[in-house]
Amino acid sequence: MKNGKANEMREDIESILVSEEELAEICDRLATEITEDYKNSDRKLVLICILKGSLMFTSELLKRIELPLEIDFMKASSYGARTVSSGIINIHLDIKRDDMEEVDFILIEDIIDSGNTLSHLVRYLKERGAASVRTCTLLDKPERRTVDFTPDYRGKIIPDKFVVGFGLDYDEKYRNLPFVGILKPEVYSE
Ligand code: IMP
Ligand code: MG
Repeated sequence: MKNGKANEMREDIESILVSEEELAEICDRLATEITEDYKNSDRKLVLICILKGSLMFTSELLKRIELPLEIDFMKASSYGARTVSSGIINIHLDIKRDDMEEVDFILIEDIIDSGNTLSHLVRYLKERGAASVRTCTLLDKPERRTVDFTPDYRGKIIPDKFVVGFGLDYDEKYRNLPFVGILKPEVYSE
């Protein structure tokens, strides 16, 4: 069936980096690791979806975790232009709870670049008294790190390319692609 607009979106993709099948395998593996690690904890398990990029990853991951859990949402961004990471993180949406010391948190992120966002959020939740804080990222670009940060759970290490799909955007677009693809550089240098 002809769908001009859908073709337009896919034509901006240089190549598929993580296919739908691989994404499912990654979510299976990470969910198994998390289930194993937390099955004997007597605290509450709370997955925090970091909006908007990790929406799809969180939903695919959480349905595979075979433990009682809660979900919550945070939204954060760094100040300034993307290319010059200031390292200062602005929290736009925060969690509201009075039982921080009873909770094991897992921050769910789409991709780690400089490492600023996650290292800041981990520190922030610990300062607020969280019993424990771990991080789970779908993708990781270690070459781009400006702060020393290693996630506890990691889907896939990728090269320093700008990627979109499966929640990740460029200018709020491409989040609904079911795979992760490399965006053609001419799309963002236009
Ligand atoms: P960090 O604080 O530099 O680690 O920033 C991570 C955030 O940058 C992610 O949550 C994304 O919003 C964004 N980001 C980094 N690389 C990409 C990419 O290749 N595609 C889409 N978003 C990206
Ligand atoms: Mg993000």
